[in-house]
Amino acid sequence: LGSIGLIDQASADPHVKICATIEAMRASSRALRRKGARLGLVPTMGALHEGHLSLVHAAKAQCDAVAVSIFVNPTQFGPNEDFNKYPRNFERDCEILRNKNVDLLFAPCAEEMYPSPAATWVNVAGLSDRLCGRSRPGHFRGVATVVAKLFHIVEADVAFFGQKDAAQLAIIRRMVDDLNFAVEVVGCPIVREPDGLALSSRNAYLDPQQRQAATALYQSLQEILREFDSGERRAEKLIAAGKRILVELPCLRLDYLEIVDPETLQEIRTVSRESLVAVAAFLGPTRLLDNAVLKP
Ligand code: PAF
Repeated sequence: LGSIGLIDQASADPHVKICATIEAMRASSRALRRKGARLGLVPTMGALHEGHLSLVHAAKAQCDAVAVSIFVNPTQFGPNEDFNKYPRNFERDCEILRNKNVDLLFAPCAEEMYPSPAATWVNVAGLSDRLCGRSRPGHFRGVATVVAKLFHIVEADVAFFGQKDAAQLAIIRRMVDDLNFAVEVVGCPIVREPDGLALSSRNAYLDPQQRQAATALYQSLQEILREFDSGERRAEKLIAAGKRILVELPCLRLDYLEIVDPETLQEIRTVSRESLVAVAAFLGPTRLLDNAVLKP
């Protein structure tokens, strides 16, 4: 996460105060809140793109001050996943946040967040092993735990998350309810490329052929929405319509395509209430997600 030199240099900037320690972050957010500011938090793993910036815009619109966190959280990556190669560009991210007049940037190192291996974990039972949780065991436990830590450290009034990671959002909402966090969770719409591909830091991994094939995720959701709009309510049929698009691409390997309850993530057989259709697929080693809401 950049060198200390870089952090010090950026801290001199009047618009974004960079906090590398929990103590500095807490002191800064408490100082803002003491002045009566409503503080918004945008948790990220960096490699910022327009999707993240839409969260920053929402936070700026709804809050008096905005904190962004950048932390590539090791506990949400499996042993054979992309933790080491996850895109990191701290300097560029700082520049972007500076241009957006973000107030605080929390950028801790792994030792700051996990000085010793964690013994306490947040596991949102019943949700953490659904959708991505099924193919990434331990992923949502790592997400929920680090988000709980960020909530305790930053003490924001509102936190902003992208709807693209719909399961993550459901899990965080449930954790906030169950553990009585005093933070309001706001989900923000998916931001897409002109051809429909949902923005993700992992899109950077795609070669041109994979990049082209990746639009099939969006197209399969569109096909499902079309079937749904023409009256189909059976999840099995809707899913089959989406899969027909995905199987056409030899370089794409489907992880899941499911229709679930947006809160419990339980599979739905007939769409009689608002439901989430969620898809994940591999393009080579890169796993991408997308989803859409079905509203009867
Ligand atoms: O969505 C992400 O970028 C991460 O999962 C989050 C919420 C920042 C936790 O590490």
